[in-house]
Amino acid sequence: MTFPQMPSFSLHGKRALVTGGSRGLGFACAVALAHAGAQVWIAARDRQTLEAATTLAAERDLRLHPVVLDITDVAQVEAVTDALPAFDILVNSAGLARHEPFLAVSEANFDAVMAINLRATFFVSQRVAARMREACIAGSIIHISSQMGHVGGPKRSVYCASKFALEGLTKAMALELGEDGIRVNTLCPTFIETALTASSLADPDFRRYVLENIKLGRTGTVEDVMGPVVFLASGAAGMITGSALMVDGGWTAS
Ligand SMILES: NC(=O)c1ccc[n+]([C@@H]2O[C@H](COP(=O)([O-])OP(=O)(O)OC[C@H]3O[C@@H](n4cnc5c(N)ncnc54)[C@H](OP(=O)(O)O)[C@@H]3O)[C@@H](O)[C@H]2O)c1
Repeated sequence: MTFPQMPSFSLHGKRALVTGGSRGLGFACAVALAHAGAQVWIAARDRQTLEAATTLAAERDLRLHPVVLDITDVAQVEAVTDALPAFDILVNSAGLARHEPFLAVSEANFDAVMAINLRATFFVSQRVAARMREACIAGSIIHISSQMGHVGGPKRSVYCASKFALEGLTKAMALELGEDGIRVNTLCPTFIETALTASSLADPDFRRYVLENIKLGRTGTVEDVMGPVVFLASGAAGMITGSALMVDGGWTAS
């Protein structure tokens, strides 16, 4: 009988890029990846927030490299990713939500949400995956999608459309990049307490609706995505691609 070898959760020697890594879920993912041993670059538009994030991490002996980048600008994405080493791990966390009733959605809000949640994520992934392929890196690409990439939600037609699209993109990317050993998955959180959800969760009726649907009876914290992102990035998830990892406290179980 052969003895099974325990796969490694360590990310030592790996390089990771986290978009939207300056705050919220992206920052938590960046800290988690750094904890697991990766060298981590965090990208966002606001330099001050990036610097605050890197300082906070440095106080805990974790080094994060700040990258000022607007991911909706494809030329900028190309210039920045070309100037950096090829990555082993990409976490696409930068995202936007503009919640309003379907019948009221304006073209401007539709375009703003799609521009970042889908278009920018698409082209950042394309650029990073191309560099992975050139460098023969069997990498891991993780899109921070949402439970709203699997179910509908009130006033969330555009947000849901963007996240369902991300789920489709993940499966198509997984098919094409599998031959390079590059894995592509989504991580799908429920409502997590961040700047993005602050105004929705401040409404007591909405918070009640959320808590009624999360079977574990609490909203998520940024810490809830930290283990899952390390898992998907690591060799422990070596046979997982084209999948969605629900971090939803059971919301989509019913
Ligand atoms: N919070 C939740 O409950 C929840 C649940 C499910 C899924 N998600 C998803 O998780 C992801 C992160 O959400 P969050 O709650 O952490 O959001 P957040 O706190 O609002 O953080 C968004 C991050 O994205 C960056 N960003 C926004 N636009 C950008 C751009 N054009 N270029 C580069 N960076 C940009 C922001 O920095 P700058 O503004 O400085 O650029 C910030 O670092 C999103 O994709 C969201 O849809 C969140």
